[in-house]
Formats: sequence, structure tokens, C-alpha cells
Amino acid sequence: MKYLIGNWKANKNLSEVEIFFKTFADLYNQKKLDWSDNLEVVLCPPFIYLEQAKRLVKKYNLPFKLGAQDISPYDNGAFTGEVTARQIKEFAEFVLIGHSERRKNFKELDTMLAEKVKQANGFRLQIVYCVPDEKAVIPEGVSIVAYEPVWAIGSGQTDTPENAGRIASTIKKDNNIKSVIYGGSIKPENIAGFWESVFIDGVLPGGSSLYADSFWQMILHATAI
Ligand code: PGA
Repeated sequence: MKYLIGNWKANKNLSEVEIFFKTFADLYNQKKLDWSDNLEVVLCPPFIYLEQAKRLVKKYNLPFKLGAQDISPYDNGAFTGEVTARQIKEFAEFVLIGHSERRKNFKELDTMLAEKVKQANGFRLQIVYCVPDEKAVIPEGVSIVAYEPVWAIGSGQTDTPENAGRIASTIKKDNNIKSVIYGGSIKPENIAGFWESVFIDGVLPGGSSLYADSFWQMILHATAI
């Protein structure tokens, strides 16, 4: 199974989410590709749009899964501002944990990330655990890792598919991980090398997942191989 996982980060409002799905559905309906056997397409909108996204996936009958961009390290309770695994589970099947923007801007450390992994596993969410390199600590219970070199995120510069493939293999071997995907400035123009690599199990685009047409272009590429 390969993964194409779009991370919207802190972008879009209600009407922009609506437009994304409408535009995407128009493109999808022209071809009606079936990728269910070998590709998982996942979109990670901000928490507050998960309900809307779930409704639109259903309305347009799109073969998308949804993911949250983060998760509380705590269970339900007195934790103002947090969104828990139990709440996420009602809308999403995937969750990103340890994205470098959270590590850097919100000072998330390995101990807290391990708690988030526990919470996600408690509710059987599929974890996409983001790491900046092959030396990062990966908690027990993670099945998908995203290798995302910090300098490649939002910079327009990617790692090479060869180096990303090498790092993906090391992560798999050292941590007994099944799937490693690559993230960092992926777009339709450069997805090919990463998608074709036998060592890389998919991609995690941020900026280019915000546009229905570029997201669609990446799916076309992913389903053509
Ligand atoms: P980018 O983001 O594609 O905009 O570089 C990737 C990510 O942060 O996951």
C-alpha cells in the first residue's frame, strides 16, 4: 500500500474547503479512477473542518480518508484547547504526530510525542509519525513514518529520491517500520522520482495539497505507475 497524504496545515476557511471538494469532485468524476487496492489518499484539514470534510467526502463519494494534524497527549478531561483521540476518531482514521512545525513552534518533545502515540493507538488511529532524519526516536506502535528534512519543508527544495530512499530504508531496518513516506516540497512536477522509488511508500505534500488541481495531478501520477 502506498500513501498520498495531504497536510493542509493552518490554511483554508469554510468556503475554501467547500470549493476544494467541489473542484476536486469535478476532476475525479471525469475519470472515476479506482485506486482502492494499492493507494490510500488521505487529507488532513484543520480540526475544525474535519466534520465538514467528512460530510463533503460523503456527498461527492470520494475515495478519501481523513486525518488530523495533531492529537492531544491526554485523554478527555480538563485540558483546555486540546482535541483528544476519542474526538478525532469520530471523523478521521489517520493522525500526524511529531510534525517538525509542532516540534519547533510548540516545543513538542519525544516524551510528549510518545504519549500522543499511545492515545492514538488506544483509539486505533493510523499514525503518521514525522521525523527529520533517520536518527530520530520513534515510539513503539508506529506503522507509518514520514521522513521530512526540515530544510525541505515549504522551501521549494526537495531531498533527492536516492537519499530519501536510503534514509527510508535505514528507518525501516532500525525501527522495524513497515512504511516510510517522504515529505518536503512535493508537488506534481517532482513527485515522480519519489513515487517510483521502491524504498519510499508514498508522499506527504503540504502546500501543493491545498489546490484541488495539483492534488489531483499527484493522484493521476500515483495511479499511473
Ligand atoms: P510542504 O510541506 O509540502 O509545503 O513542503 C510538507 C510538510 O510539512 O508536511
